[in-house]
Amino acid sequence: MAEVGLYEAMSTLRAVRRLRPDPIPRAVLHRVLEAATWAPTGGNTQPWRVVVVEESSTMAALGDLYRTAWYAYASHHKKLVAQAPEAVQRSTEKMLGAGNHLADHFDHTPALLIFCFNPNNMAITDRDQPRVSVVGGASIYTAVENTLLACRAEGLGCVLTTLLCQHETEVRSLLSIPEDWGTAAAVPIGYPLLGGHGPITRRPIEKLGFQDRWGEPIQFPNE
Ligand SMILES: Cc1cc2nc3c(=O)[nH]c(=O)nc-3n(C[C@H](O)[C@H](O)[C@H](O)COP(=O)(O)O)c2cc1C
Repeated sequence: MAEVGLYEAMSTLRAVRRLRPDPIPRAVLHRVLEAATWAPTGGNTQPWRVVVVEESSTMAALGDLYRTAWYAYASHHKKLVAQAPEAVQRSTEKMLGAGNHLADHFDHTPALLIFCFNPNNMAITDRDQPRVSVVGGASIYTAVENTLLACRAEGLGCVLTTLLCQHETEVRSLLSIPEDWGTAAAVPIGYPLLGGHGPITRRPIEKLGFQDRWGEPIQFPNE
């Protein structure tokens, strides 16, 4: 398979929720997981671990949990966008359709990567701020993003999911995860059933970035 360029990979890394049940060759899985290990973490402590679930009975049990969380989320989300412009409603319908497919076929996912973290071993520099702390997550989601990009490079579909975190106690028990470890993400991976990765819709940097001061437009003229 031809190598995909990094910018092309990043700009076509969309959520792929329709996956074929075909197994993933061990060498491919190895490359994808090795990419996760290259991610930067605070103090280089690598306070994450990943449980690769391939066993069908465990996947079925996780599928039950995922479906409960997904259908609750989907019905809430549908209500939220009921008054939104038609284009938003249409893209939401598309996303929910793909999400339903993932939930309904969860048990046949060839591999599910459960990313875990240990808060006792993480650099959390915003721990004492009077708001929700996010810095700890940066020592886990870098590894998750590397994994997604490696899947993109390998032609594997994937999507970062977090709904199983609502059922952390059950997931911990199913996978024998120690008490002092939490779960941060579940990434189903597999070869795509349809088109797989492709064009994404994102706001441009001019809408998200500023120059020198918050609110000051950032511009890139005549490039
Ligand atoms: C923090 C986070 C949590 C997410 N949780 C879920 C999830 O539980 N289930 C799911 O189907 N997608 C989940 N997603 C995928 C997003 O819905 C998806 O990345 C976003 O809608 C953009 O989709 P696109 O890449 O196809 O444009 C999550 C993404 C992120 C970054």
